[in-house]
Amino acid sequence: MTGLRTTVNGLSVEIGNVDATTSLLDLLRETLNLKGTKQGCGSGDCGACTVMIAAADGQAEFRTVNACITPAGAVRDKHVVTVEGVADGDDLHPVQQALIDQHASQCGFCTPGFVMSLVAHSLRTDAPKRGAREKLVTAISGNLCRCTGYGPIIAAGLASCDAAGQLDHLTYAAQQPTSTETPSQQADIGYRIARSEAELGQWLQQDSAAGIIPSQSEPRTAAKLIAGATDAWVAVNQEAQEHANIIDISRIESLRVISQEQQMLNIGACVSHEALLEFFTTPPNRSAAVEELLRRFGSPQIRHAGTIGGNLCGGSPIADWSPLLLALDAWVTLKSATAARTLPLSEFFLGYRQTSLAGDEYLASVQLDIPSSWSNLSFEKISKRYEDDISSVCAAIFLDLAERTVRQARIAFGGVAATPVRVRKVEDMLLGKSLTDVDDGLLTNSLASVITPISDVRASADYRMQMAKTLLLQRVQGARKAD
Ligand SMILES: Cc1cc2nc3c(=O)[nH]c(=O)nc-3n(C[C@H](O)[C@H](O)[C@H](O)COP(=O)(O)OP(=O)(O)OC[C@H]3O[C@@H](n4cnc5c(N)ncnc54)[C@H](O)[C@@H]3O)c2cc1C
Ligand code: FES
Ligand code: FES
Repeated sequence: MTGLRTTVNGLSVEIGNVDATTSLLDLLRETLNLKGTKQGCGSGDCGACTVMIAAADGQAEFRTVNACITPAGAVRDKHVVTVEGVADGDDLHPVQQALIDQHASQCGFCTPGFVMSLVAHSLRTDAPKRGAREKLVTAISGNLCRCTGYGPIIAAGLASCDAAGQLDHLTYAAQQPTSTETPSQQADIGYRIARSEAELGQWLQQDSAAGIIPSQSEPRTAAKLIAGATDAWVAVNQEAQEHANIIDISRIESLRVISQEQQMLNIGACVSHEALLEFFTTPPNRSAAVEELLRRFGSPQIRHAGTIGGNLCGGSPIADWSPLLLALDAWVTLKSATAARTLPLSEFFLGYRQTSLAGDEYLASVQLDIPSSWSNLSFEKISKRYEDDISSVCAAIFLDLAERTVRQARIAFGGVAATPVRVRKVEDMLLGKSLTDVDDGLLTNSLASVITPISDVRASADYRMQMAKTLLLQRVQGARKAD
C-alpha cells in the first residue's frame, strides 16, 4: 500500500501500511511512537488526545482536534503538532512551565491535552485578550481533569497565554514537500481526499454504479463520506465500524463557503461549526439563538472539525442544527455527478438516522432566508452538562408578532421523536392569535399529542416530555410579557 505523507512536529514523515480506519491517535502512538498524546474515552469527550493541526503551507492557524476521532488519512499533507513538539529543545513552552509553577497536574493523564489546548489558544491571532478568563475557560472546555481541579489549570493559562510565543522552532513550512499524488494513488489506502465537487460526483457515480470498487486485493464496498469525522469516527471506535473506501470531502473549497445573495444565505455543507460561530457572532448576521447553539456545541476540538453538513446528514434526532434550521424554514441542496435537487429540510429526514440522500448524492449546501429580525429566533438546549454535551432535548422557536398578533410561528424540537420535528399543530394554534388569547394548557396538550420522546441513557421519556413543554411555555410566556 502507498503511504501517508504528513508533517509531525516540523518533520516530514511518510508512513506505509495505513489502514483506512486507523485513527490519528493510533498513528501517533503506535506507528510514530509519540506516546505523549493520551487515549482516554476514545469518543471525543475527554480531550486527553488533543493535538493541533494546520495546513502544511503554514498559512492557516493551528486548530485543536481530538486525535482519537480524527482519521489518520485526514492529515495527509497537513502539519500535526503533538505535546512532544511544543518545547524548544530543553526549553519548555511557557504554557508547560506555567502548569508546573501552578501545580496544575497530579496524575498528569489529562495534562498533554491541556497543554495543547492552551498552546493553541495562546497562538490565536484573533483573540486579542487571550488571557481573559472567559476565553480561556472556553479554550479548555473540551478537556477534562479528574484529579487536580480546574483552579490551578486556569491560573496557569492566565499566567502564560498572553506571554506565550510562536512555535518558531517548528520550521515545517520549508520542509513540507508538495504533494504529487494522483487520486488513484490515494485510493490505495482506501482513503481518498476529494479536491472538487466534480471529482466527488464522479467518484460517487462510479462507486454506486459498480456497487463495489475493485482494488488490488479485495473488493471495496460503497463509499463512506467523511467531513469532520466527529460523528463517523465515534462509530468506528465504539461500534467497530470498518470502512475500506472512505471519501474525505472536508477539503472541497466550494463546500466550505458561506455566501449571501440578497436576503438568502447559502451555507456550504463543509463549513465548520467554528466558522459558523464567527459568522453568526459578527454583524449584520449576529444571532443570539445561533450563538447559543454554537457556544454549547461540543467543545472547541469538535467545533474545529465538525461541519453543518455532517450534523444534518448523520440524521440524528438530537443534532442541534436540525431544529434550528427547521425553525428557519431552511432548504437543502443535494447533488450528484449529473443532477442537483433542492428540497425543504423538513422533507430531508425520513426516519431514525435516515435521510433522503441517494447513494450517489451528497449534501452540497443549506439555504435560508435571513429573517427580518434574528431576535425572533430562540434556541434552548437541555443537556446533562452545560458544555461539551449532546442535547437531551432542544427547541428552536421562531415567533414573529405584529400588532400583538402572531404573524409567523415555526416551532421545532430535537430529542422528542425518531427525527427532528416541526410541530405544525402547535404552530397552527398560535397563528393569527394574540398570545393573551392562547391557553397554555391546551398548547402543551397539543404538543404532547404530536411528540413521542423515548427513554435512553441521556433522559427518560417523561423528562423529555416535561422539558419540551417547559421550553415551549417559557418562550410563549416570554413573548407575551415582551408584547
Ligand atoms: C464529544 C462530542 C460532542 C458533540 N457535541 C454535539 C453537540 O453539542 N451538538 C450536536 O448536534 N452534535 C454534537 N456532536 C456530534 C457531531 O460532532 C456533529 O453532528 C457534527 O456536526 C458532525 O459533523 P462532521 O462533519 O464531523 O460529520 P461526519 O462525522 O464527517 O459525518 C457524519 C455523517 O454524515 C455523512 N456526511 C457528512 N457530510 C456529508 C455530506 N456533505 N453529504 C452527505 N453525507 C455527509 C457521513 O457519511 C456520516 O454518515 C458531538 C460529537 C462529539 C464526539
Ligand atoms: S481520548 Fe478522549 S477525547 Fe480522545
Ligand atoms: S491531573 Fe489527573 S486527570 Fe488531570
